[in-house]
Amino acid sequence: MTAELPVVGAIDELRRYVRARRAAGARVGLVPTMGALHAGHLSLVEAARRAADRVVVTIFVNPAQFGPNEDFARYPRTLAADVEKLARIGADLVFAPPVEEIYPPGFSTKVVMEGPACADLEDRFRPTHFSGVATVVTKLLNQAQADVAVFGEKDYQQLLVIKRLARDLDIATEILGAPTLREPDGLAMSSRNIYLAREERARASELHGALTDAARRIVEGGDIGAATRDARARLAGAGFDVDYLEARCAETLAPVVSLDEGPIRLLAAAKLGATRLIDNIAVRS
Ligand code: PAJ
Repeated sequence: MTAELPVVGAIDELRRYVRARRAAGARVGLVPTMGALHAGHLSLVEAARRAADRVVVTIFVNPAQFGPNEDFARYPRTLAADVEKLARIGADLVFAPPVEEIYPPGFSTKVVMEGPACADLEDRFRPTHFSGVATVVTKLLNQAQADVAVFGEKDYQQLLVIKRLARDLDIATEILGAPTLREPDGLAMSSRNIYLAREERARASELHGALTDAARRIVEGGDIGAATRDARARLAGAGFDVDYLEARCAETLAPVVSLDEGPIRLLAAAKLGATRLIDNIAVRS
């Protein structure tokens, strides 16, 4: 038996809920997801709970952010189990709209960005991805009108894209980032980890290991180019097909060559078999 957790699919119902709570003086937090919820997602709900009185979680597998050869059709859809988890940790409302509610016939608008969306990282390999993310997140933020919305650092470029679009489009919702939750061996939790074969799963933590070692070398004064080059080679040696592993300015994602340029983030994407993993860490000096 779980606590009562309403699930709505209409924008009107979402709006009505948020408007009523805010009118009663409550702060409302929003956590957008694509479902297949794991402990990382639930940590965002907890972060939203700390920043607000009520927490709304959205579950929508957004077709616009998947490329033609990506995993939209087979992306895990586990609504009943997701709602169960959210009820247990005390979320207050789930918004799980059908595709036609978000993209009705005649839908014609896209949010297309420069800046962090064109950093030559994820965008190099997924050229339409951030326009899909920016469009749906703009819509979700407009639909909910929450006080605060929480996004994970796990998708670091996405977090900067969303912070930028909220500023650029004068969206009043405050955007908060939350740290990455990891498995005990360091692998960042992800809905896509279930795609990994057992033998691939055993090697997958190398991605975090390579990033951690490179960060340590940089903090100890090592050359940034050499540290990232060696990390790429280590991953290739472990059977990864590396899309990128780079040191970037943590705020703008501009390339960096020295620790003196301010906070650095190491960002990586690599395929293990058919599964593409992404991860990133701060270089803390
Ligand atoms: P999804 O991949 O479901 O992730 C939802 C949120 O959970 C994102 O903010 C993501 O960064 C965060 N997250 C994922 N794994 C995490 C982990 N291990 N620790 C902490 N947070 C984690 O990201 C999306 O959905 C979509 O692009 C979305 C923003 C919902 C737009 O469609």
